[in-house]
Amino acid sequence: MCGIVGYVGKERCVEVLMQGLGHLEYRGYDSAGLALHEGSGIESIREVGRLENLGRTVAARNGHLSRLRAGIGHTRWATHGRPSQENAHPQVGGEGSVAVVHNGIIENFAELKEELLERGVRFGSETDTEVMAHLLAERIEGNPGEPLREALSGVLGRLEGSFAVAAVSAAEPGVVVAARHQSPLVVGLGNGENFLASAVQALLGETREFLVVENGEVVEVTDASVRIFTQDGEPVEREPFEVDWDAEAVELGIYEDFMMKEIHEQPEALRATLSGRLDAGGGVDLSEMGLDLSGIDRIVVVACGTALHAGLLGKGLIERLARVPVEVAVASEYRYSDPIGDENTLVVAISQSGETTDTLAAVGTARAFGGKVLAVTNTRGSLITREADAVLLTQAGPEICVASTKAFAAQVAVLDLLALNLARVKGTIGEDELLSLGRDLRRAPEKVAATLALLEGKIGDAVELFEDARCSLFLGRGPAFPAALEGALKLKEISYIPSEGYAAGEMKHGPIALVDEQCPVVAILGEGTLREKTLSNVEETAARGANVIAIAREDDPAAERVGRVVLSVPDAPEILRPLVWTVPLQLLAHDVATDRGLDVDKPRNLAKSVTVE
Ligand code: G6P
Repeated sequence: MCGIVGYVGKERCVEVLMQGLGHLEYRGYDSAGLALHEGSGIESIREVGRLENLGRTVAARNGHLSRLRAGIGHTRWATHGRPSQENAHPQVGGEGSVAVVHNGIIENFAELKEELLERGVRFGSETDTEVMAHLLAERIEGNPGEPLREALSGVLGRLEGSFAVAAVSAAEPGVVVAARHQSPLVVGLGNGENFLASAVQALLGETREFLVVENGEVVEVTDASVRIFTQDGEPVEREPFEVDWDAEAVELGIYEDFMMKEIHEQPEALRATLSGRLDAGGGVDLSEMGLDLSGIDRIVVVACGTALHAGLLGKGLIERLARVPVEVAVASEYRYSDPIGDENTLVVAISQSGETTDTLAAVGTARAFGGKVLAVTNTRGSLITREADAVLLTQAGPEICVASTKAFAAQVAVLDLLALNLARVKGTIGEDELLSLGRDLRRAPEKVAATLALLEGKIGDAVELFEDARCSLFLGRGPAFPAALEGALKLKEISYIPSEGYAAGEMKHGPIALVDEQCPVVAILGEGTLREKTLSNVEETAARGANVIAIAREDDPAAERVGRVVLSVPDAPEILRPLVWTVPLQLLAHDVATDRGLDVDKPRNLAKSVTVE
């Protein structure tokens, strides 16, 4: 939520900041702004709306900005104060001599604001961030000669909440300082130039070498140096880490939007995630976790959004294969619960970004009973990797679209591996069967690629059924139920059509009241005994006028019977079916939204990394 970029170095500050913000726009897109060292002052520019609006204003400033060498930038997801020019960042203090950009929430801002108002400070915005700008300006004015980083540390001591912040002061040209408390911040290392950002994606076109800034630390960046300090001013030594993501991974290439690109990257995400963890014979190796799972008698999965749905799929498989009970908890609820568990409980925290505040807090809650924490994340070096006892990285590459697709596929694959591994440790399944399941899992990239190929150009008829849709129901049973939840979430978040995922058998206890011609029903028919049951439930909706879109195996005669439209998927081994079913659901959501002229990558009100509560 909210993206921060900082730069010090050559005469290309604005170019680097704008490019970086472009790659972080998924974090928020209500407004954007820059604060630049210019001569002996700070120049601040802010615009409401998408980054392109800021780009136009910058371009209209006739070139002189393009030669500036240091500054900070921000793209906003509003927390305090509606999206407006006044509430956009940077927020300034000291008559514009100090500028601050911020990601997070300052919880005690109301008290601080009152205190500042009493001292005669005038406020120009409704943001919590502005108090920081004024406090920093006061501190600088009251302590001439104090380094900006120390002034920032002093101010941070007064703040409560979670934040990453970057600041510039006219008193220290060529210096950008930043600090982190819960919200993410990395430093990018260059030659004669250095960078700051909320996420490495912002800087992949510039560098692969990064430093993590830890909670409570302050960093001072110049063209020639990066110095990290504790909040007490003690210098910190930090080893850089290399990022192996390609700069192209954050470019659209041949695709019109990132969602479609990322849907098509799923085979590769699966291949990379399984690679090295599953051998040709189907043997699973998760020794990288360094966790002894033999004593584990209970699992709690904590996650939000799409990651939660991956967790539900994991629950089904783990319970079936390893016979270990799994609770899947919404992180924002779990964090305030009085959780049950002990040291034999494994807490699996799933988070693409590794920085979702509620998921991190849920991990903290689980710590209370002494459980072991395993993080499943796509982001190396993210907060969750440092809070967990063990980490399994999904290798989906950077995911830019707010609606998650390839990260979901990779999360499901990791949970499949975990289920197989646990079943082996627990001895609940014979070796031959385990190896056979492992060999099935190895086919995930191939089956998902085949699904994409089969559905190419086939979604149009289903999209038509949504033209006048008021709402929509997604139905499934067994493993098709979490897939239905994910399909409904995808559709509602990018097309704004109210959509519910429901267990097909439960549908007649409420949602069936919604059913008419304007409430398309997307039914994942599934296989085996549950398929027959699901078919009966779907017939019940069709009998009430529903336009049914059936997701079914190729050449399924029953699908033709109940479905106005059938979206066929290839026959696949049981363990792979949820991955295969999700593909048409993702494509459907994408095409319904684009048909309505909506921006699928940046749905309204949402942000990709939810770093506030
Ligand atoms: C936001 C995003 C979702 C994502 C969820 C959890 O709501 O829009 O796409 O599934 O956060 O994010 P995480 O990074 O923890 O997986």
